[in-house]
Amino acid sequence: MADDKENKKIGLKTTLDMVVEGCRLPVKMSILPNEEEEWPLAEILSRKEEKGKLEFYVHYIDFNKRLDEWVLPDRLRVEELQFPRKDQKTPQKQTSSAANSRPTTPDRELQLSKKLSLPEQTSSPAAKLGGQGQTPQSQTKSNAGRKRKAIFLDEKQDLPPAYCNSLSLQDSQDAPATPQPSAPPQQPRQTGSMSSSHDENIITRIKNIETIELGKYRIKPWYFSPYPPELTTISIVFICEFCLKYVKSRKCLERHRTKCTLRHPPGNEIYRKSTISFFEIDGRKNKMYSQNLCLLAKLFLDHKTLYYDTDPFLFYVMTEYDIKGFHIVGFFSKEKESTEDYNVACILTLPPYQRKGYGKLLIEFSYELSKFEGKTGSPEKPLSDLGLLSYRSYWSQTILEILVNLKPENGERPQITINEICELTSIRKEDVISTLQHLNLINYYKGQYIITLSQESIDTHNRAMAKRKIRIDAKCLHWTPKDWAKRGKW
Ligand code: ACO
Ligand code: ZN
Repeated sequence: MADDKENKKIGLKTTLDMVVEGCRLPVKMSILPNEEEEWPLAEILSRKEEKGKLEFYVHYIDFNKRLDEWVLPDRLRVEELQFPRKDQKTPQKQTSSAANSRPTTPDRELQLSKKLSLPEQTSSPAAKLGGQGQTPQSQTKSNAGRKRKAIFLDEKQDLPPAYCNSLSLQDSQDAPATPQPSAPPQQPRQTGSMSSSHDENIITRIKNIETIELGKYRIKPWYFSPYPPELTTISIVFICEFCLKYVKSRKCLERHRTKCTLRHPPGNEIYRKSTISFFEIDGRKNKMYSQNLCLLAKLFLDHKTLYYDTDPFLFYVMTEYDIKGFHIVGFFSKEKESTEDYNVACILTLPPYQRKGYGKLLIEFSYELSKFEGKTGSPEKPLSDLGLLSYRSYWSQTILEILVNLKPENGERPQITINEICELTSIRKEDVISTLQHLNLINYYKGQYIITLSQESIDTHNRAMAKRKIRIDAKCLHWTPKDWAKRGKW
């Protein structure tokens, strides 16, 4: 009997030894309540043994990377272990992310008819709308050739050279002892303050910060962000909620707060209505703040690689005011000059504020700026899963709002062209078309494209709009667009 037990123990140990990077096996997910306990297939990304405690870092194959986690051996179904095959690669967390996204926009019904003229060059919806299974979002022009200046990071909060190398810059064998100016990348131009990343290495695939404290919130990061290594071994990183400086202890934060006089983000307050404000921050003039903002944002943005040259960007930080100051809720970044007419590079609502409508408020604000510029715009691709959901929802509501309020002309059915929708909303034509198609609103009827809206979908839309309590009020925006192309420098 005793021998039997001993044998089993040896057997289990041997199996766990075989659980190495690249293996796949069912793992019990922690976020699901017990009754819905699920054992999705996961890939082992790393393993560690500290003080005799063995842990595995797992990525759930069909789920977004933000759910990756360290697990104890009792959550592994080792008997179903699959060894890595040579031809098997973890699917890259891709792009417009529908792959990672479980929630989808519900289908709507159509009936009540509203007439629509599609742009002339559109021969059929399928041809124009990506009948080959492509979304307009996958169309990107190369923006190569534009050089970025190398930058010196601020001496007080330098990013560790090792991370600089591993992240977006050059892969050097001799990592310099002190931070060096980063050479402009040789690869095609990176278009965001956090450029899209596909070649993830194992360091950047594993979350490195356990918890951050920002103002009154403790937040669990979702992804890797290249904070200095000494902050990756402590349980909480403290961040000044106004200047975004990061420190290793509450004591350091308290000391910092005696010196830091900021009660709002730097830059100009260009919008205020009730307690909501927007500050415009120039990535060149407020480099330190902008870099700290990017580092913070990276904790919640997976598909972007940090790019330390913040000069070409403006950052629009949304805050909520109380007597203690203007608290950061979220932000978006925007290139000063975008050859592809992107009006947003990265967008983020901090987790404590998510799912309350702030994301849509940020998006609405970005389009309001485009309206002031007299342009249409679109978010930089790829979109994350949540980014796609939020944009789809914003586009749908904005377009439906226009359609629902169209008045009949001379007793005829109301008419509107796609171009008119673009002009009214500043939403790019491809996004308008893909939204109409996604909502399944376009029909071909008696030689014409028509939009049909059912009373039910109008009611659903009206109910959704009634829930959108906070809206951008253009009258409260005090801003004049700058033509950065005409300026000598950013
Ligand atoms: N699950 C399901 N639906 C969601 C979720 C979620 N977790 N989060 C947002 N949504 C939906 C909402 O239901 C809402 O749609 P609805 O009104 O039709 O119901 C819509 O998305 C927008 O919701 P908001 O509350 O306005 O958005 P939120 O404040 O949560 O911010 C954002 C959305 C900015 C995408 C946020 O999730 C975030 O910061 N995520 C991490 C960073 C990120 O992925 N950014 C986008 C990258 S793409 C780019 O940068 C261009
Ligand atoms: Zn500060």
